[in-house]
Amino acid sequence: MAKIIVEKSEPLKGLIKIDGAKNAVLPILAATLLATDTCVLEDIPHLKDVEVMSDLLVSLGAKVSPLVDGRIEIDASGEISGEAPYDLIQKMRASFFVLGPLLAKKGVARISMPGGCAIGARPIDLHLKGFSALGAEIDLGHGYVEAKAEKLVGATIYLDFPSVGATENIMMAATMAEGTTIIENAAEEPEIIDLANFLNKLGANIKGAGTDTIRIVGVDTLGSTVHAVIPDRIEAGTYMIAAAMTKGDITIKNVVPNHLKPIIAKLRECGVDIEEGDDELRVNGEKLNGSVDVTTLPYPGFPTDLQAQFMSLLTVTQGTGIVSETVFENRFMHVSELNRMGANIKIEGHSAVVQGGGQLQGAKVKATDLRAGAALILAGLVADGETEIDNVYHIDRGYVDIENKLRKVGAKIRRIEE
Ligand code: EPZ
Repeated sequence: MAKIIVEKSEPLKGLIKIDGAKNAVLPILAATLLATDTCVLEDIPHLKDVEVMSDLLVSLGAKVSPLVDGRIEIDASGEISGEAPYDLIQKMRASFFVLGPLLAKKGVARISMPGGCAIGARPIDLHLKGFSALGAEIDLGHGYVEAKAEKLVGATIYLDFPSVGATENIMMAATMAEGTTIIENAAEEPEIIDLANFLNKLGANIKGAGTDTIRIVGVDTLGSTVHAVIPDRIEAGTYMIAAAMTKGDITIKNVVPNHLKPIIAKLRECGVDIEEGDDELRVNGEKLNGSVDVTTLPYPGFPTDLQAQFMSLLTVTQGTGIVSETVFENRFMHVSELNRMGANIKIEGHSAVVQGGGQLQGAKVKATDLRAGAALILAGLVADGETEIDNVYHIDRGYVDIENKLRKVGAKIRRIEE
């Protein structure tokens, strides 16, 4: 099993290039099932989750080229199975994104129910509510979701929560439904816009992505296209926080500053200087000072996927910061690990009260999900002594080559295989 060892590091200085967005490429890979010819995707990150999704598409009958220099080709024009195997779905809940495209393309899908994970039960009721509204018959049994529909007919669907996955799955299912589908209280994340752009390049008719109301007018068929995915705003935010915590000075390239407004605002409130360019940010943490409060919300609010990393920052800023998690019910697994490193964090319901100004101590800790793992790496950069992080497979799901990217800007970090 691999471990990552981090030692107290000097202020990070230099340049980091951001890869394509994991949470954009996963639904777009699923959407290639709708295409009638080969699709070419670019700026695809070399991540474990991308491998799992590619394996899933192959198991369904698609032809998938090796990922070379961020480029991958998918041909799903042949015979595609409607059944996704348990072992692949269990590896990654995002595999559930194939249900919408299979329903649209074949009128039938049998997908193993995605499991929960460390951060929450991760239900799929809103996905199923959308598919039923479009006319699909849903059967749950033996751990599988079976969906079938002679014909999908457009409907108006209100999402009780602006679920990213449900918005994406329903949008894909509705592309070839008869008539118009309206998704109300839709998620507004940039990854939703990227998926809609990809689908429209295939020939879909989607308007309103990025707002809380998305309108999909069904079309008869979809073609193929070439598409480069957007940069990963969560990877970028993680390295912005690393620069802030170590009072360093890092230029982060290949970003969309507009996607990073919440983290830019909160870091500036902590005294961090941030210069915005067209596709890069310069983050200087030399004047890092007081703690702030942060509440996670659906986009454009502060992203839940940066909550753990920001909490690591609050252990070193002066004063008390309150972190409130409103998106997932159990996303404070990193608190006990940070407290093992000498942090002083108390959980009170959906909030964590972080006493800052302390000096963290290196310790043996465990990653519990990919963002918590990243948060522990950040904490190790400022902790006295050595921090040994276990379960790094979590981190490899969402971060391309994190130790080399950090080492290039001065971090004392290495990976060991045991
Ligand atoms: C996506 O997960 C992301 N994953 C997550 O990123 C991210 O944390 C999350 O959106 C929120 O932004 C991908 O895009 C692959 P949700 P998703 O459906 O779609 C509840 C990372 O670190 N809900 O928006 O699963 C759910 O329980 C990962 O990269 C229902 O109640 O998130 C949760 O409390 C982690 N019923 C809330 O909505 C449903 O049918 C948000 O979930 C669906 C969701």
